[in-house]
Amino acid sequence: MVEEFSLDDGPVEAPPGVMDGKTICEPLTEVPDPARLVFEKWSCCFAQEVRQLVLDGAPPGNIFGADLSSDLMDMGHKLFLDEDKLGVRFIQSDILDKQSTLRVEFKGLYDVIHASNFFHVWPWAKTIQVAKDALDLLSDKPGSVILGTQVGTRRAKNVNFPHINRSAFFHTTETWKRLWGVAANETGSRLDVQVTEDYFPDQDIHGWPEELEFIRLRFIIRRT
Ligand SMILES: C[S@@+](CC[C@H](N)C(=O)[O-])C[C@H]1O[C@@H](n2cnc3c(N)ncnc32)[C@H](O)[C@@H]1O
Repeated sequence: MVEEFSLDDGPVEAPPGVMDGKTICEPLTEVPDPARLVFEKWSCCFAQEVRQLVLDGAPPGNIFGADLSSDLMDMGHKLFLDEDKLGVRFIQSDILDKQSTLRVEFKGLYDVIHASNFFHVWPWAKTIQVAKDALDLLSDKPGSVILGTQVGTRRAKNVNFPHINRSAFFHTTETWKRLWGVAANETGSRLDVQVTEDYFPDQDIHGWPEELEFIRLRFIIRRT
């Protein structure tokens, strides 16, 4: 059963450390030898995971970041003071637009796509399309993966955000697997979907009602 919920929430300031790089990068430890893979960070924002991989020894030429906003990616350079030395290509693109630079130039080329806090911002039907878009960029090779983390919930909910006139579907582990089942069927893909639950500290900071029952989901979707 899917619940409906409204959350009229304005912007809040998260204290430092709430979404630190280690928390976000944790699923990457599941990927064998990232140095030999072509890695793409979806909706990268400041791209801290990209920098973590370079720091861990992955060749920057195999690593890409993409976001709708070039300002956010530029701010990442300012934050990490690495514009002249990082060597990673950042691609300003609407990753949901089939005609965008990212989708045209890199169709089917990535071994690893990392997506954090992106799949959870859409309603159910749109999320299926977003999942299919991610599969379109992912290599056909068995073992290629889409992994990441996002906000989930203990009972599936469609949450309305009246202040921005949007709604988003928050997944349980079960609905998340079901959604990828639909995306797999519609694209003729064979996928193994692993998803685990974790504590979600941001709920207290935002002061969101407990009924939302938010959790953190960590997922690895692997072509078989
Ligand atoms: C909630 S933030 C998550 C940022 C980062 N992945 C993280 O976990 O900290 C969503 C990000 O998605 C980007 N974004 C939203 N729509 C997009 C689109 N259609 N194409 C590319 N990036 C998009 C935003 O610019 C923003 O950086």
